[in-house]
Amino acid sequence: MEKRVVGKSGIEISVMGIGGWSYGGGDYWGPQAQEDVDAVAHAALDNGINFFDTAEGYNEGRSEEAVGIALKGRRDEAVIATKISPNNTEPTVLREHCEASLRRLQTDYIDVYIVHWPITEHSVQDAFATMNALKEEGKIRSIGVSNFGVAQLSEALDTGVQIDVNQVCYNLLSRAIEIEILPLCQKNGMGILGYMPLLQGLLTGMYKTAEELPPVHARFRHFRGDREKAGHGEEGAEEEMFAAVEGIRKVAEAEGVPMAQLAIAWTIAKPGITCELVGTRNLSELQENLNVASLSLSAETVAKLDELTDPLLQKLGANADYFLARRTH
Ligand SMILES: NC(=O)c1ccc[n+]([C@@H]2O[C@H](COP(=O)([O-])OP(=O)(O)OC[C@H]3O[C@@H](n4cnc5c(N)ncnc54)[C@H](OP(=O)(O)O)[C@@H]3O)[C@@H](O)[C@H]2O)c1
Repeated sequence: MEKRVVGKSGIEISVMGIGGWSYGGGDYWGPQAQEDVDAVAHAALDNGINFFDTAEGYNEGRSEEAVGIALKGRRDEAVIATKISPNNTEPTVLREHCEASLRRLQTDYIDVYIVHWPITEHSVQDAFATMNALKEEGKIRSIGVSNFGVAQLSEALDTGVQIDVNQVCYNLLSRAIEIEILPLCQKNGMGILGYMPLLQGLLTGMYKTAEELPPVHARFRHFRGDREKAGHGEEGAEEEMFAAVEGIRKVAEAEGVPMAQLAIAWTIAKPGITCELVGTRNLSELQENLNVASLSLSAETVAKLDELTDPLLQKLGANADYFLARRTH
């Protein structure tokens, strides 16, 4: 499995990472057995995947706990990213949130410590200065942001603190970052951790209409704003999206690979992407996704997939918040 360096940190991670949002189980993803998390973590490490992503906000901390349990005894082989919620980055509380994450993860350092969403309620300068102090103390090895658009990234970079990575939504149907955010990250030596390579299921090819999806997975800006769980208030782009999915299905058939693997392979073939995080719930999903390591998409196939998804990109535009359309660019 190919490895790439996270920004200027010197930390090497695999191009495919394990997304831990479902770990610990909860309302959004339903139950999640610890035995499956353990099996995924061990098989991942055995097959060259060393990067694990979690957050204090995932399942009230249980995702971090699950990652900590799964990596017990193999901590030194793994690179762990966890995320702090923006409202917890105020200097008086940031340190205790970091300590709590360390305890749940059963470790004494976090490799990549990420601010989960843009900070709006207090000083950005003070928050990043405190993150930097934690880095100097060795509690964290590098600093990242997530879902930061151009204005928010510029504000964070202006603090003078080294920020190595931006974790953002990136998949064939969600390419907003290509317009402004990715070029800005590249210019500043920052990497990208892409998330939701399968758009939480759509890019597995399982669904042909929006009605077939669990409502919680049809809440993104691609879908109509009046869908049950949507909170973005936009018209969506369902026609363009399903047209793109049909086109991708044909490319997958022509290449002789499952759509999910093609979708993941496309993300890691794109310049500027350090790693794509795949929500991997069990060993059989991991085994399928490991095939991506041996897939090498030709430049023609990548260009064809770009062309098929371009109308959707044009319709949804440069805003990389596909959840709620908060302004990120
Ligand atoms: N920073 C942020 O704001 C943010 C936001 C979202 C995600 N993330 C991170 O990115 C990670 C990945 O995103 P995600 O989990 O939301 O979405 P995703 O990776 O697009 O989709 C994950 C789901 O796809 C299914 N899946 C995985 N491999 C499959 C395969 N080979 N065949 C068929 N289905 C497969 C699984 O669903 P089932 O088994 O349930 O069918 C899995 O839960 C998260 O876990 C999290 O670490 C970060």
